[in-house]
Amino acid sequence: MGAEVVIEGLSKSFGQHTIWRDVTLTLPPGEVSVMLGPSGTGKSVFLKSMIGLLKPDTGTCVVNGVDIVRCSERKLYDTRKLFGVLFQDGALFGSMNLYDNVAFPLREHTKKSETEIRRIVLEKLEITGLSGAESKLPGEISGGMRKRAGLARALVLDPEIILVDEPDSGLDPVRTTYISQLFIDVNAQIDATFLIVTHNINLARTVPDNLGMLYRKELVMFGPREVLLTSEEPVVKQFLNGRMDGPIGMSEEKDSATLAAERAMFEAGHHAGGVEEVTGVPPQLQPTPGLPVREGARRRKDRVMRMLHTLPEPARESIIASLSPEEQRHYGVGGAHAATEPGLVGAQHGTLPATDVAYLPDTDDTTRRLPPHQGHS
Ligand SMILES: Nc1ncnc2c1ncn2[C@@H]1O[C@H](COP(=O)(O)OP(=O)(O)OP(=O)(O)O)[C@@H](O)[C@H]1O
Ligand SMILES: [Mg+2]
Repeated sequence: MGAEVVIEGLSKSFGQHTIWRDVTLTLPPGEVSVMLGPSGTGKSVFLKSMIGLLKPDTGTCVVNGVDIVRCSERKLYDTRKLFGVLFQDGALFGSMNLYDNVAFPLREHTKKSETEIRRIVLEKLEITGLSGAESKLPGEISGGMRKRAGLARALVLDPEIILVDEPDSGLDPVRTTYISQLFIDVNAQIDATFLIVTHNINLARTVPDNLGMLYRKELVMFGPREVLLTSEEPVVKQFLNGRMDGPIGMSEEKDSATLAAERAMFEAGHHAGGVEEVTGVPPQLQPTPGLPVREGARRRKDRVMRMLHTLPEPARESIIASLSPEEQRHYGVGGAHAATEPGLVGAQHGTLPATDVAYLPDTDDTTRRLPPHQGHS
């Protein structure tokens, strides 16, 4: 199972310029999370801070008991090996063919034989759909292939955490969906914890288990995808609809005069952009048929059901609606079941403590409680 990442009170500035402050969130192990945010809000700085390439001013980022922010160089070096990072442009060495690019971390960080390396490299190239392209140079292949090669390289050291910076940049919508499917498939196969930074609305709506947004130097929200996708928060709604109409401006937040002037313009009929009103919670991408079920998604279901009573009503409704009738029975929520068992109705209305909300599936004793809440939020 992938590692959990617990970030608390993290703040980063360059000189007088605060990038973000007091960011607190937990990446649950083996789950896929996406961080949204307008350009320049510090998403890339956030990823770099998580692997210790940049030093936050305050706060902690703890992985396997090691605080990346304050640990020794030696510990940082060791802990970094848990991470696989896919940079925006794939960050491949231009003069090396794909085989050597993907083999690089193995030759650099391990004492594996070339035979062993060959086995691993060919396996990762196959997972990412690049079999047969071993001898190509990065300059000879498309952007989508470069991204996949970057992912193959990020996978060779069997990472527990995979960080991805804007996987969709430079890709057409179809290729973006293919790489999204690849993340879900890789997650199903290796159960690593994912954090993907993106602007892409389709990806954000269909890929992650958890969704967050950075805006105005703060983490606006972070939580189960249903929370952001049903949010009425103007910034979140504007971003998910890709509209000009809202608080986010061309390069930064609009002042109130600009906001009012633009509002009048849109009310008078000027098109605010965007194709359609994007609302609600679409189905999540599933692993390609034939692959294992996602353990992360299974664990998430229990986790989210434990915190259900703390979530806003629209998110709660959407989560309950996404459960099968059997699951609704297991968790004691929704429809006829809740109505016939008064003790469980409270689960939907926030009157029960977290440990009482969910029940263990696959057990005869349906009243057995889940282990105590692990503290994800
Ligand atoms: N090493 C650095 N020194 C000084 N300022 C920096 C440094 N790295 C980033 N910044 C500043 O931090 C801010 C956030 O940059 P970052 O690249 O993290 O934004 P982003 O959210 O990733 O944007 P985009 O969506 O366009 O990639 C920017 O104002 C940038 O100029
Ligand atoms: Mg960036």
